[in-house]
Amino acid sequence: MIVLGIESSCDETGVAIYDTESGLLADKLYSQVAMHAEYGGVVPELASRDHIRKLLPLVRECVTETGLTMHKLDGIAYTSGPGLIGALMVGASVGRSLAWGLGIPALAVHHMEGHLLAPMLEDDAPEFPFVALLVSGGHTLLVEVKGIGEYVILGESVDDAVGEAFDKTAKMLGLSYPGGPELAKLAEQGKATDIKFPRPMVNRPGLDFSFSGLKTAALLAWQKSAGTAAAKADIAYAFQEAVVETLAIKCDRALKQTGFKRLIIAGGVGANKRLRERLGELDEEVFFPRQAFCTDNGAMIAYAGALRLAAGQFEPATISPQPRWSLESLTPLAQAV
Ligand code: KG4
Ligand code: ZN
Repeated sequence: MIVLGIESSCDETGVAIYDTESGLLADKLYSQVAMHAEYGGVVPELASRDHIRKLLPLVRECVTETGLTMHKLDGIAYTSGPGLIGALMVGASVGRSLAWGLGIPALAVHHMEGHLLAPMLEDDAPEFPFVALLVSGGHTLLVEVKGIGEYVILGESVDDAVGEAFDKTAKMLGLSYPGGPELAKLAEQGKATDIKFPRPMVNRPGLDFSFSGLKTAALLAWQKSAGTAAAKADIAYAFQEAVVETLAIKCDRALKQTGFKRLIIAGGVGANKRLRERLGELDEEVFFPRQAFCTDNGAMIAYAGALRLAAGQFEPATISPQPRWSLESLTPLAQAV
């Protein structure tokens, strides 16, 4: 089955074509980062308009690259939520309309299921069951995964998502948008000093997270510092260590609690080098998608959609994106038909 995947939940337009027989055939991404950088963050209305401009040209590029025609597509998968409503509307409308015109099924994909399944696109794909750490700009989730659509949320952030904490701290330190990767780059130039940030909520039982306090800790440290470039790098280092160590402690706890032997990490913050290095030290097997499949992309949506479409999942032809959508409400794949 050949499936076109569309991702437009935030500030990246992603399009990909996945074949259930031969794998990923094409994958294109257009990032709106340069446009939003001027405003220091994503401007939702501008994001929607840019998705409108870029989506169809990217679809054409993908189809041309594979040497196929639109008529060879067997289905279309698009991100239906969670995300920015206007941005989601673009992917849902284009995806549904193309499918309607071609007379093929279209499927609404949960953005976080896309992230969660992204490690499956790699050669050393994990087998079920596993614990998933999903860390993006909007979510921090620890999920027990027994199969596709069989998700139990073990823990989540009670305030800022990890990516959000990276972005806000970066902004506070005067780094350019998008802050997460910039802060990570700066942390590489920093060193361990006597600046110590807390590891929030690790001394309490349970698997929830809280990251908003770290942002305040970073601000206070910056105000007390000499204000030099070296001091800034050391604060970035201390912040990243605190985040990474907190995530590692909770991942370890989730693995012990479930008794599962595999951990996967996905979502934008999964691209963080220090996080990948630290979680790689755990005793259990750890799987990451390549960095480009950690951040938003069309491939993960094409893949997640292809599995569900191939299993015969069916939906009415309505365009109804869900800006808020619980991962636990998804149908297990075996019952999807
Ligand atoms: O998954 P994603 O591309 O979009 C959402 O679904 O939110 O994640 C984006 C988030 C942003 O907060 C970005 O700053 C963060 O992931 N991020 C990083 C790194 N690369 C992206 N955070 C820390 N280190 C990185 N290398
Ligand atoms: Zn995402």
